[in-house]
Amino acid sequence: MKKGTQLYEGKAKKVFATDDNDLVIQEFKDDATAFNNKKKGTIADKGVVNNAISCKLFTMLEENGVRTHLVEKLSDREMLCRHLEIIKVEVVVRNIAAGSLVKRYGFVEGKLLENPVVEFYLKDDELDDPLMNEAHAVALGVATFEELSVLKIRAEAINALLKHFFAERKLKLVDFKLEFGRHKGEILLGDEISPDTCRFWDLETNEKMDKDRFRFDLGGVENAYSEVQRRVLGQN
Ligand code: TMP
Ligand code: ASP
Repeated sequence: MKKGTQLYEGKAKKVFATDDNDLVIQEFKDDATAFNNKKKGTIADKGVVNNAISCKLFTMLEENGVRTHLVEKLSDREMLCRHLEIIKVEVVVRNIAAGSLVKRYGFVEGKLLENPVVEFYLKDDELDDPLMNEAHAVALGVATFEELSVLKIRAEAINALLKHFFAERKLKLVDFKLEFGRHKGEILLGDEISPDTCRFWDLETNEKMDKDRFRFDLGGVENAYSEVQRRVLGQN
């Protein structure tokens, strides 16, 4: 597989073309941003850790019937992926109140949500990724009602699989963000699933083990990421 020109550079990843039009290489960087780029830094080896975690989780999801863009892990920082037309909707699923849910609605952090809360955000950095409903998304032309209903059902199924997977590894899956894309008439899960895009709390101590350690200067970011990697990959 020949790595071609860079198609896109995001905050945490670069995407490269390959000699096959249908395939791209997603390369994970150590750069970290928060609050839509207002806070910037690096987390040592984050790219390696997030690639390893994402490849493992996407493989687990595929094994359980969820179609994703993962083809194979190519190297420490590179994932070979199907080339998606990204849907400009960030799908957030919440099991426990935290982050913007607490800020926006006044929930007490840590409150268990009996029914997972699924939210749609417009993927648009210039607008700060605003929360939107289905009518907004359709009016904006980013997705159809049918696609949004697929996204919600898919996100709920992924949540059930991930929650179970993480509980076995002594982690609470508080919330997470997914991105999907169109590919040959189907909708596939894209992007990544990692401590950058999820909140994980230790099952026993409730210690935060994700990007909140970077967002709020809690310290021990690298250790938290590698501990999540260790639990996800089952390493000692
Ligand atoms: P929030 O509480 O800040 O809305 O975040 C909800 C979840 O989505 C959390 O697990 C972090 C993740 N997330 C991203 O992956 N990218 C983003 O740009 C934002 C705002 C949140
Ligand atoms: N990923 C977003 C940013 O880069 C927000 C976040 O994760 O806090 O700013």
